[in-house]
Amino acid sequence: MSEHAWWQRAVVYQIYPRSFADSNGDGVGDLRGIIQRLDYLVDLGVDALWISPIYPSPMADFGYDVANYTDIHPLFGDMDDLRELVQRAHARGLKVILDFVPNHTSSEHPWFLEAKRSRTSDARSFYLWHDPKSDGGPPNNWLSVFGGSAWTWDEASGQYYYHAFLAEQPDLNWREPAVRRAMYDVLRFWLELGIDGFRVDVLWHLIKDAEWRDNPPNPDYRPGQAPYSSLLPAYSTDQPEVLDIVREMRGVLDEYGDRVLIGEVYLPVSRLVSYYGDKGDGAHLPFNFQLVVLPWRGPLISAAITEYEAALPPGAWPNWVLGNHDQPRIASRVGPKQARVAAVLLLTLRGTPTLYYGDELGLCDVAIPSERFQDPQGKNIGISRDPARTPMQWSAEPNAGFTTGVPWLPLSDDYERLNVEAESRDADSMLALYRRLIALRRKEPALVVGGYRPLVADADVVAYVREHAGRRWLVALNLSSAERRLSLDASDARGEIIVATNRERESEHVGGDIRLGADDGLVVRLE
Ligand code: GLC
Repeated sequence: MSEHAWWQRAVVYQIYPRSFADSNGDGVGDLRGIIQRLDYLVDLGVDALWISPIYPSPMADFGYDVANYTDIHPLFGDMDDLRELVQRAHARGLKVILDFVPNHTSSEHPWFLEAKRSRTSDARSFYLWHDPKSDGGPPNNWLSVFGGSAWTWDEASGQYYYHAFLAEQPDLNWREPAVRRAMYDVLRFWLELGIDGFRVDVLWHLIKDAEWRDNPPNPDYRPGQAPYSSLLPAYSTDQPEVLDIVREMRGVLDEYGDRVLIGEVYLPVSRLVSYYGDKGDGAHLPFNFQLVVLPWRGPLISAAITEYEAALPPGAWPNWVLGNHDQPRIASRVGPKQARVAAVLLLTLRGTPTLYYGDELGLCDVAIPSERFQDPQGKNIGISRDPARTPMQWSAEPNAGFTTGVPWLPLSDDYERLNVEAESRDADSMLALYRRLIALRRKEPALVVGGYRPLVADADVVAYVREHAGRRWLVALNLSSAERRLSLDASDARGEIIVATNRERESEHVGGDIRLGADDGLVVRLE
């Protein structure tokens, strides 16, 4: 496996820092909290942690509105805490990936304060300013992801500025060379400090149409969807020039060697793969969100894997994601039993898996009444991301051992049952399943670097073989709650179940015609 880079062999674990572990009782997680829990991540078996933004920020979008790219928000700690975190993580063989938010700054960032001062300010060109239409309205019809027009009127300077998200998150002008230079220096700052890579926020948004044309209506828009989806973002996102920026960012990482560039890109597979770069000089891992956005149905999942594998350019390394801080939790989307099947899928597909903190415990979305919404998306358009951002559940102690204070979001009622301590004692728990799966990956190169071959199966069954250096593994997943069967052809005929969602089946010998109980996921070592 040694010819593979660490990020190809790694399991990535996303930490939403506000909600992971609170060391000082203020109800919000922090860097010292993460430091105290590093051994948990080692026991779990993951290789890298990605931490959502920890920079100084007014927190209009909980850190995705950065007011200073090269410092730490006091809520989370300080630079010494971060250095210690990196050093202790590295001492345990864990990599540390930071979130990089280049598309927009906070409206409190010194650049924006300066840009706003006047039309002739030095920093004016750092942002996207536009005169009103002749009727005084916004320059075009573009919408904010968080609702309403993407343009906000600045009375003092008499122009609109563009923001794909909140008005408190003005978009940077990535056609301005000075912006590029400054932002690449931000990357260098963290790389010098030993950061192992970045997850780049909304990478496909960075460049907008030079002519600011109106976006066309979305013919598939249905009432009830986010208003943003009523238009197709044809001119406001995924412009060809963005790929030059991706290549430049990659170039900066390459100055340091052995670092990883991950991109947040919500696009159809055919467009997504262009973010690898046409010479393998783009993002190492443009996030593949198919398992997040597709309905949980066998034929759709099987087809999506096949489509993705076929679309990958030569040399491109795949990756898979089941959840993140913007999406409903997997256990709520597919139910607790299928969430176990999903864990097997995530950790046996070809490519780097990213798992979202708490999913390894089987946490569900926590219902939060609208008057307690924190998330601006929830407040503005009613689609709150808070339910998937609730505190990590460490133990059956008050507040699940997350904080001694008042947690910033409520905990789930099930925390006395679903927590790290209780699940560590229970061999049938979700946590135990995740540990077995990750441990098996670490032992078995075929599951990490092996080839992928889909098998023909019943519509509700997703089945494939992973193979490397003469070792073959069969993965058979029943995406339904009724019994199914999988018939193997002769060459794949016999083997032993090594990991299963239903632990009773582990060590069972199977062959020929395999029975899949309701919600069964099997990982079989073939003879
Ligand atoms: C990304 C983040 C999300 C944030 C948005 C704006 O999608 O994951 O949390 O609100 O960008 O920065």
